[in-house]
Amino acid sequence: MAQYLTEENSAAAVIARINDAECTPRFRRIMEGLITHLHDFIKEVELTQEEWEVAIDVLTRTGQKCSAERQEFILMSDTLGVSMLVDAINNRRPSGATENTVLGPFHVVGAPELPMGANICLDGKGESCLFTGRVVDVAGQPIQGARIDVWSDNAEGFYDVQQPGLQPKWNNRGIFTTGADGTYSFRGIKPTSYPVPVDGPAGEMLTGMGRHPYRPAHTHVIVTAPGFQKLVTHIFVGDDPYIQSDAVFGVKPSLIAPFERTPGSDTAWHCPFDFVLAPK
Ligand code: BEZ
Ligand code: FE
Repeated sequence: MAQYLTEENSAAAVIARINDAECTPRFRRIMEGLITHLHDFIKEVELTQEEWEVAIDVLTRTGQKCSAERQEFILMSDTLGVSMLVDAINNRRPSGATENTVLGPFHVVGAPELPMGANICLDGKGESCLFTGRVVDVAGQPIQGARIDVWSDNAEGFYDVQQPGLQPKWNNRGIFTTGADGTYSFRGIKPTSYPVPVDGPAGEMLTGMGRHPYRPAHTHVIVTAPGFQKLVTHIFVGDDPYIQSDAVFGVKPSLIAPFERTPGSDTAWHCPFDFVLAPK
């Protein structure tokens, strides 16, 4: 018998329309959960007609803000903590393995492959920093042939792709491959904190909640090696004013690295950090 929708039965009425002959079990599970929680949420807050119209407008403008260079839905997901939750569920690792964090929108495939020790800072701005460490397995054995793909903002808080023509192409980006001892080293800068893009609905949402848009200073890293899980992570600067309030919830205590001043050396700072990869 047809189930007409009422305030009391609304979620069940919608779920009853799912046709198992044409719906995969996984899609049923996802849609059942989504419909149940969405209806519960609307009942819990007693959403007004005006608020529903605002929500539709926000979603519409979020889509309109998306382009080849800008993904406002992902930014919404990031600032709501959803990206980090999905990342956590999908990257459970054995203890001791380096933890994942959010990829972010500024990774570019195809950065230059550089020799160990090379300098990735091409605009000459910022405080120089030597990054060193080892790529090892959970037993502490060095991993040969690990690719370390690094990128960071410049001293003014912008990635090269945000300032084409202003910054040199591939500024603060490079790929390094480990030898038999698993060690790596490269020169870059001590990164700076920067705001996520705020000229769209995600920015309005942050303002509406009284939240700032800043990410604490970090250097992005992707480490890959045959037989090991891909590691997508950051090295964070611990004394950053935003370390406890990252706009996208990406900070994990294990990813906060020491940044040590190195007077007398050719870089102002040294950041030692090891990457521990989990087996596939
Ligand atoms: C980033 O770290 O590059 C980033 C992450 C999430 C949103 C915006 C930027
Ligand atoms: Fe970043």
